[in-house]
Amino acid sequence: MGMCFFKVGFLVVNYLVPIFAVNYDASMEGFSLDFLPDCTGVTEPVSIEPESLKSIFILVMDPDSISKATWTRYDYYHAADIAKNPGFDLEKKTFMFVPGYVEFLAAFLGWSMAEIYKKLGYNVLILETKEFTAMGYPTAARYTRRIGFHVAEMLANLTSVGLDPKKLELVGLSLGGHTMSFIAKNYRQLTGRNISLLVGLDPAGPCFRHLGPDQRLDSTDADFVLNIATNINEYGMSANLGHVTFYVNGGEYQPREAWWLPCSLECSHVRSFFLWLSALQNPHNFIGIQCDTIQQARNNDCYDRTPTVTNTMDLYTDRTKPGIYYLATFNKFPYYLGLRGIEKNNKGISRQKTGFSNAESYVESAAKIYNMTKFLLQFK
Ligand SMILES: *[C@@H]1O[C@H](CO)[C@@H](O)[C@H](O)[C@H]1NC(C)=O
Ligand SMILES: *[C@@H]1O[C@H](CO)[C@@H](O)[C@H](O)[C@H]1NC(C)=O
Ligand SMILES: *[C@@H]1O[C@H](CO)[C@@H](O)[C@H](O)[C@H]1NC(C)=O
Repeated sequence: MGMCFFKVGFLVVNYLVPIFAVNYDASMEGFSLDFLPDCTGVTEPVSIEPESLKSIFILVMDPDSISKATWTRYDYYHAADIAKNPGFDLEKKTFMFVPGYVEFLAAFLGWSMAEIYKKLGYNVLILETKEFTAMGYPTAARYTRRIGFHVAEMLANLTSVGLDPKKLELVGLSLGGHTMSFIAKNYRQLTGRNISLLVGLDPAGPCFRHLGPDQRLDSTDADFVLNIATNINEYGMSANLGHVTFYVNGGEYQPREAWWLPCSLECSHVRSFFLWLSALQNPHNFIGIQCDTIQQARNNDCYDRTPTVTNTMDLYTDRTKPGIYYLATFNKFPYYLGLRGIEKNNKGISRQKTGFSNAESYVESAAKIYNMTKFLLQFK
């Protein structure tokens, strides 16, 4: 057992060289570079003191707050009161955003997604768990299970005052993809019912890569699990975690927005978020093509498969066509290619417009990365 020290991008973690979990079959995934696959003790139980439970919050977007987001926070002990919030209507569908590691994503990204769901007519909730995510990464990974249990209790209480799980949809980014899974698993234990939809945005690979379905996001967690894979060898993971997984541009690296701005780890990982943001607003335009294996999806080798099966990455994914899909995208927001995406030579399309004309998007991306860095450093 040796102590290893990894520094990749902004993520700095210590971890102990691991033991392999049982029931793991590498052929599921194709060949992976296996960044930080296992973390010793990550599945060991951990508990949260009753007093500390007060720092788990669900934020509710107030009515008429589309332009100016204002929120009411409900702590663990007051979840059932959410039903009384004037911005919360039990007749409507409900969306909850489940943030990832250190939660810079909730602050900067969660809000923009919340506004779109609000416009789509949903009740909008954001989970806040920063007491338990702004810590060493493997510890945060270990806490996802316990957080999942307690948030499930909150949602079960909200269900007891009328929340319909058939109208409940969760979106989990990165580490939040697994927190969301533990919420759903525990919610079913507590209520005997399934959450309707889970959307995984490049669920975290580090510390989860080799774990079985009961220890990470899985298709058995909800009525329907949609997974979007954008950085499968590093921050994400390559296994098919949903009923449908879209391996975007092969699932590993995303096309850069400008030729001088590489889209490496964080950029590719967080692209999953912006893809979903676009998919919500541009339904039926992200069209994936079905593959037999994950390795085929990685290799962009699914176009000669017969018959050709397609599916869309959005709120309208055809649930009768589960499986592994390759999805080609354009390199810039809003990313979708429409029907061009299922042409065999789409690869050229997705790359052709990179170059100097993108000064604006470069500035935007640089600002985004700068903001994230600032936020991450603040938490160290
Ligand atoms: C759920 O409701 C019970 C009974 O009303 C209450 O004792 C408990 O604290 C609530 N738990 C949460 C997580 O809201
Ligand atoms: C819950 O979802 C799982 C996975 O989609 C499914 O197998 C199971 O039948 C569902 N259970 C209920 C009670 O609907
Ligand atoms: C970065 O942060 C500043 C100030 O906090 C904000 O005005 C700006 O819109 C942010 N930019 C991006 C791209 O998120």
